[in-house]
Amino acid sequence: MSASSQAATNNLEAFWMPFTANRQFKQAPRMFVSAKDMHYTTADGRQVLDGTAGLWCCNAGHSRPKVVEAVQKQIAELDYAPAFQMGHPKAFELAARLAAMMPSPLDHVFFTNSGSESVDTALKIALAYQRAIGQGTRTRLIGRERGYHGVGFGGISVGGIVSNRKTFGTMLTGVDHMRHTHDPERNAFSRGMPENGAEYAEELIRIIQLHDPSTIAAVIVEPVAGSTGVLIPPKGYLERLREICSQHGILLIFDEVITGFGRLGSPFATDFFGVTPDLVTTAKGLTSGVVPMGAVFCTSDIYHTFMTGPEHMIELFHGYTYSAHPLACAAALATLDTYDEEGLLTRAADLAQYWEDGLHSLKDCPNVIDIRNLGLIGAIELTPIAGEPTKRAFSAFLKAYDDGLLIRTTGDIIALSPPLIISKEQIDELFGKLRSVLNAID
Ligand SMILES: Cc1ncc(COP(=O)(O)O)c(C=O)c1O
Repeated sequence: MSASSQAATNNLEAFWMPFTANRQFKQAPRMFVSAKDMHYTTADGRQVLDGTAGLWCCNAGHSRPKVVEAVQKQIAELDYAPAFQMGHPKAFELAARLAAMMPSPLDHVFFTNSGSESVDTALKIALAYQRAIGQGTRTRLIGRERGYHGVGFGGISVGGIVSNRKTFGTMLTGVDHMRHTHDPERNAFSRGMPENGAEYAEELIRIIQLHDPSTIAAVIVEPVAGSTGVLIPPKGYLERLREICSQHGILLIFDEVITGFGRLGSPFATDFFGVTPDLVTTAKGLTSGVVPMGAVFCTSDIYHTFMTGPEHMIELFHGYTYSAHPLACAAALATLDTYDEEGLLTRAADLAQYWEDGLHSLKDCPNVIDIRNLGLIGAIELTPIAGEPTKRAFSAFLKAYDDGLLIRTTGDIIALSPPLIISKEQIDELFGKLRSVLNAID
């Protein structure tokens, strides 16, 4: 590192870090300086096993050769092209390839730059669609408690994480929430999908009866709620949501920002659960986290509903300067190649049992009150320290980092979602390290 960049790195004040305890971090910084495959390297030269695929995004692992090469080549060839009234070939190639991956009829793709933007885009498309089919009274959006849909005003409005909402005013009006599906009394230590709780979908009926279906445009849920601490849907729950939405003319949106691109052992949760929504939001694994990009999938019916009126007119007044950015498209295409060549979109299915057994072997560790898993996702819930919620899990995070393991915590829950290239030996290493962390912390 040069002297000037070293000096700049020593000034930690200016960067207001996102979703971070800034003061704690700046007293004892944790810096990554490079990454390769399953590992990060820290500024002090230590290897850290990536138990979280960055932030649930580096599904192909880090600095994969094909992706690196594609991005390097792209920036020298076409650095930027406007996506409004102009195009570039890779945007169309990528959209067609993605549409072919999604179950029919989800065969049109709108590009964004993040999960939050994908969510806002899907909500806006849902509202505009209802209006376009003469259902303009359908303006209400329904989310779920403990849902995470990013940090835009649309996303926090339908989202259900209290701390992400309570300081930001009134948000969108006309939003209601179903209850969450977490039911530790009946489902603690379930392996895979919990047996109990399909009936929580009936909450939607209550909400529909309260507001009348003619006022409701869409329901949005994460098929597996990730950021809120990994809440696996009870058996039958998503099917029932689909049924109710279809019966009442309500669009169903799956937020697959985390579950998309192989996390559960199938390309999308939509395949895994065999439930087809009307819109799907994605981001993260689309480019394996290399370049920011999101994609919203919608049905051909939704797309073609907008394709009316004079042909010179814009059909949807929505889009981003960086929608379908050439670098992001190049990264996504190379990521999809890597997924295909290495069978990564179904690899989690092969590893799921091994992962589940390793994870649940931690049941006897101190303070563990629940363990949950599906595909290559895992969560360990700890008893909070009395009067100091989140502190125990945060201590685990800090200790794990010192011990060479990256985990994520939310509340007093440890969430795990390694890159899909993880080996069985690395799964053993991950749970071995975690066991010693859980045994070491108070
Ligand atoms: C389900 C879900 N939706 C939306 C988002 C927001 O994505 P981003 O941080 O890219 O805006 C996330 C991020 O974790 C997510 O898990």
